[in-house]
Amino acid sequence: RNYRSRTECRGDIQRLNPSFLTIYESLIPPNEEKEKQKQLMALLDKHVKKEWPEARLFLYGSCANSFGFRKSDIDVCLAIGDADIDKAEILLKLADILKSDHLENVQALTRARVPIVKLMDPTTGISCDICVNNLLAVINTKLLRDYSKIDVRLRQLAFIIKHWAKSRGVNETYQGTLSSYAYVLMCIHFLQMRSPPILPCLQEMETTYKINVDNVECSYFDQVDKLQGFGSRNNETIAQLVWGFFNYWAHSHDYANDVISIRSGSLVSKRAKDWTRRIGNDRHLICIEDPFEVSHDLGRVVDKRSIRVLREEFERAAEIMQFDPNPCVKLFEPY
Ligand code: CTP
Ligand code: MG
Repeated sequence: RNYRSRTECRGDIQRLNPSFLTIYESLIPPNEEKEKQKQLMALLDKHVKKEWPEARLFLYGSCANSFGFRKSDIDVCLAIGDADIDKAEILLKLADILKSDHLENVQALTRARVPIVKLMDPTTGISCDICVNNLLAVINTKLLRDYSKIDVRLRQLAFIIKHWAKSRGVNETYQGTLSSYAYVLMCIHFLQMRSPPILPCLQEMETTYKINVDNVECSYFDQVDKLQGFGSRNNETIAQLVWGFFNYWAHSHDYANDVISIRSGSLVSKRAKDWTRRIGNDRHLICIEDPFEVSHDLGRVVDKRSIRVLREEFERAAEIMQFDPNPCVKLFEPY
């Protein structure tokens, strides 16, 4: 069998839709969870405002980008105007303040790559990580959430891909595989590249939202309610898209030359970004451009060993999607 030229998927692909949709629905968080998150945020806000009246708290990551599963922890960003503050000092102070309430396991991890305060709220049962002034993450969270409002197939695809990655052990950045954030960018890119496209490129459209964060200009079209029905000329279903996603990363992506870029809604060349050589620990073996920090390759965690693991997993998944009589079992089998 010649995999590289595989362009046609199995004839019975549509038969698989109900199983994928059932899995998607089983992963969506119930509304009560949102309520509990709000309750915890209000509590945290009360404490923070007492010490720093000007400061603000933002949710970011999966609890706010619409790609979070049920029972996940929440990520919070404490925004304190001053850019030159000592983050460690703020976090130690924050931990002190929060310890005085009935919150549990309050810990300041000031030497982590992203320094945080961790805690658990026994009232809601939610665990939470609080970082300081990580506003780019708050903005890219909004971008992802805005994309998810345009076509429900993005949320369906991303849930399935994240569930697959977690089941197969390839969602572990400390082991050289990809973050959930990277997988969602891969899904957005994939849907921008369908023909006809299922998603537009919001950063190439008229600017309706603009903010400058850490000297990075973030701007894009955020009136996504005006884009309802954008993808309706394309009638691909979730099963076809899952098949296409794995087939792309297993057999079509040009790992040697291409960078996926949701910022430009297309592929860009590694050469144009000067990502052709290893520099320090950045090997650029799979290249995923951050939409705002464009010098940032989300694939930089991937090394010689883990790129093999990843590609073998893409190939395994593509194989299952093409030939397995019941892909939904095999695909998510624990590794
Ligand atoms: N983030 C980022 N740059 C990265 C990794 C993460 O800016 N290289 C930010 C993004 O805002 C992302 C958030 O951190 O939404 C959390 O990242 P991650 O844990 O990968 O994603 P989650 O959506 O929280 O996924 P999970 O459900 O696995 O927790
Ligand atoms: Mg997370």
